[in-house]
Amino acid sequence: MKTPERGGTGRGERALRAAFARAFGGRAPAGIARAPGRINLIGEHTDYNGLPVLPFALPRAIRIAFAPRGDAAIVLRHGREGHPPREFTASPAIEPDPPGSWANYVKAAVEHFARLLLETPGASVRGFDAAVDGDIPQAGGLSSSSALVVAAALTFREVNALSMAPLEFAARCAAAERYVGTQGGGMDQAASILGAPGCALRIDFFPLAAAPVPFPEGYAVLACHSLVRAAKTEAARAEFNRRVGECRAAAALLGRAFDRPELPRLGDFAREFGTEACLRALGEAVPPDSKILARARHVFEEAERVVAATRALAAGDMPALGRLMSEAHASARDLYEISAPALEELVRIFLEGGALGARLTGAGFGGFAIALGEEDALTRLMAVIDERFYRPRAPAGPIEELRFIARPAEGARVVPA
Ligand code: GLA
Repeated sequence: MKTPERGGTGRGERALRAAFARAFGGRAPAGIARAPGRINLIGEHTDYNGLPVLPFALPRAIRIAFAPRGDAAIVLRHGREGHPPREFTASPAIEPDPPGSWANYVKAAVEHFARLLLETPGASVRGFDAAVDGDIPQAGGLSSSSALVVAAALTFREVNALSMAPLEFAARCAAAERYVGTQGGGMDQAASILGAPGCALRIDFFPLAAAPVPFPEGYAVLACHSLVRAAKTEAARAEFNRRVGECRAAAALLGRAFDRPELPRLGDFAREFGTEACLRALGEAVPPDSKILARARHVFEEAERVVAATRALAAGDMPALGRLMSEAHASARDLYEISAPALEELVRIFLEGGALGARLTGAGFGGFAIALGEEDALTRLMAVIDERFYRPRAPAGPIEELRFIARPAEGARVVPA
């Protein structure tokens, strides 16, 4: 079985061009910005702690067909239900919509890059008309929202001729997204922008750096939605931000214990003093019933698993990668407490069905679980999942939106319309 590594299915883009023409008086778009979602193989909740991750860009993406305007207005139309049309003016200070509005992800990108553009004396901001669509499942932990930020940022850069290196672009998109109130670490934007066909990415943070790691032919990932929404704008956001806060608290305690208050992140302490010394110091600093020790243990050990997983992947040792992924899942469940019963059930069926490894992917609290394996084995496993997981739950809508097999695909770019 062959799964596409290059995104940009012709049919989706034709439909988007037609949607643009319908929305904007029969005109053709000037280009299409395409930004993929991502799957994280391993390294969960490490990025904001300054520790590495190992994701890859998906063949599924957010697409924006756009045409520059003569003024600074941003005029948005979305092809999906529940995404009302929006308009606003591009400027360095944009009033956000109420939480939950899809346009906030576009506003996040436009505000950030408009501010950057206007740092150049004499520069002025140009707006755009845009038709938006995409095939990344939403509220699933596959970064559909970061992909929207990246696609909007690419569009803004294109119409304003604002060039920059990919790493700077990725770091800026991560900073831009804080506009929506989630304190993510930068993995999602980097994976979307730096993705390479057939490769996972080992990404490091503060400063951002990325290295492609070839993902062997014949292997893939089966991704299945747990049917539990994990929207960044809902309860999951509060839980996510609480984890970030717990890690900051742990870093502050270590700063006191080691008399290094200037070090901001758990990753700094891991590199400087090692996992064992950090956990010992934390164990002495927190009461026995505090969650902080468990959270920090997850973060430190997860980073070690990312290093081992990168080595396994580079050597083509997929069973070893799978074992590390399953260990990462257990840690996410028991120490970081970000799993959910439906995710547990998916992971159990994956492993009983012969997957090399299985885990939740992304922030957790619902969303997608993934299984690693040979492509043929995953096709069989998908039939088992349909039978045992989806059939009894009878979800609404097309099943292709809920589960699919994927290999690493290309990163974000603008294509001529
Ligand atoms: C979300 C965030 C990322 C990362 C993951 C958890 O996707 O946006 O920055 O923290 O959760 O690994």
